[in-house]
Amino acid sequence: MRLTVIGCGYVGLVTGACLAAAGHEVFCTDIDTKRIDQLKAGKVPIYEEHLDEVLKRAVAEKKIFYTSDAGEAIRAGEVIFICVGTPPKDSGEADLSAIDHVARQIAQEAKSSKLVVEKSTVPALTGMQLQKAMAAYSGGGELKFHVASNPEFLREGTAVSDFFHPDRIVIGVEDPASAAKLQEIYSPILERKFHCPIHAGKCPTGSPGELLVTTINSAELIKHASNSFLALKISYANVIADLCERIGADVEEVTHAVGLDPRIGTQFLKAGLGFGGFCFPKDIQAFIHLSSTVGIDFEMLKAAEKVNKQRIDRYFEKIHKALWVIKGKRIAVLGLAFKANTDDIRFAPALDVIGRLMGEGAEVHATDPEAISRAKPIYPKIAYHEDPYDALRAADAALVCTEWQIFRDLDWERAGKLMARRLVIDGRNLYSPQRMHELGFDYYSFGRP
Ligand code: UGA
Repeated sequence: MRLTVIGCGYVGLVTGACLAAAGHEVFCTDIDTKRIDQLKAGKVPIYEEHLDEVLKRAVAEKKIFYTSDAGEAIRAGEVIFICVGTPPKDSGEADLSAIDHVARQIAQEAKSSKLVVEKSTVPALTGMQLQKAMAAYSGGGELKFHVASNPEFLREGTAVSDFFHPDRIVIGVEDPASAAKLQEIYSPILERKFHCPIHAGKCPTGSPGELLVTTINSAELIKHASNSFLALKISYANVIADLCERIGADVEEVTHAVGLDPRIGTQFLKAGLGFGGFCFPKDIQAFIHLSSTVGIDFEMLKAAEKVNKQRIDRYFEKIHKALWVIKGKRIAVLGLAFKANTDDIRFAPALDVIGRLMGEGAEVHATDPEAISRAKPIYPKIAYHEDPYDALRAADAALVCTEWQIFRDLDWERAGKLMARRLVIDGRNLYSPQRMHELGFDYYSFGRP
């Protein structure tokens, strides 16, 4: 099928690339012409595992096309996926101006009827607004614009794998024809008829994922309810970690045992610096806002958000306790990205940590395998090092802010010899406290003795 993807951020690019790998012809467009030029030149503007190779293959097989002419892209596809950003306003409400802009473009540029699919995370009832907006912008012509909601559950860093091996595909529709179209689009994924860059023809057997057909309102709510529940889980684990510190228990032991109950599950119970990124912090705010507009006070989510905001305070309590005075100290910050395997630094805990360190007069030496170029414009005055050992040289303390594998694998014996003082304050619980103490380190982490 001929498909259009509007918005070439990570969701748009992964969606476009993977649907092209599933045999569709995909026309991608973005308001950012520089981004389209980069893509045309074969450069992938974000770091996302496997995306590079999937795009390269799709280009070679003439299954993906890039254009900065939105009208051309809109006219090319039978189904249009909206993958534009919905950043938070100061009130926490999602800013839907990009969606509105796209609705106008589709209504004005289309020459045939379209199925318009929201992939961006949007508050419930946006589908209805989108439908109304397109009808109004098209001036009530002959063309029909059907709307569907197809929320993505992709995690940055594993988005390609998540797309090809979903646990569920949710399609929220208002008519059977739209459901049938989306089912056709996703059938190669469910039937595993695509070239998998991860397993090279040997995808694990087992369920290929469930396709759920719901109403548009339910689909929109499923996305918010999923992200918010995961955020709740993380904040829950973080409060348990604080309790463990007071009581003298080990949060890793506690959450592991708790999570083995299949009703709870072991994932998303990792304590530390809390959740960052462009999804959870903004989605939780938008969900709280949406709930309040319909008269529901989502106290539980507010508490989860509050716990998360306090994680950096808790981290600085540890830093102050360990280091006493921060002013004039040379501090190595290991990790800038909001989590491992991405170059995304939006709402990354590391940025808050660096801001506070600078505010207290520290000399910051940061390292990250992928995110340095993204952090430089925000903090141009700190020192950046490609090699973590260079960041650690002469440091009075090392702060671990991202759980990259290369940080897990660091040779702390070697690092200890380079550092001015053997002090590690680990925001991600990467190392064994016992091993670090054996190596002569003063070692602090979250919720562990
Ligand atoms: C999240 C969801 O996991 C995806 O399902 C969803 O599609 C996506 O948001 C989205 O709405 O687009 P993502 O933000 O990429 O994906 O990252 P996660 O892996 O969920 O991590 C979010 C944050 O929580 C990170 O800062 C991570 O370090 C933190 N986290 C995660 C913890 O602190 N503890 C955990 O146990 C797990």
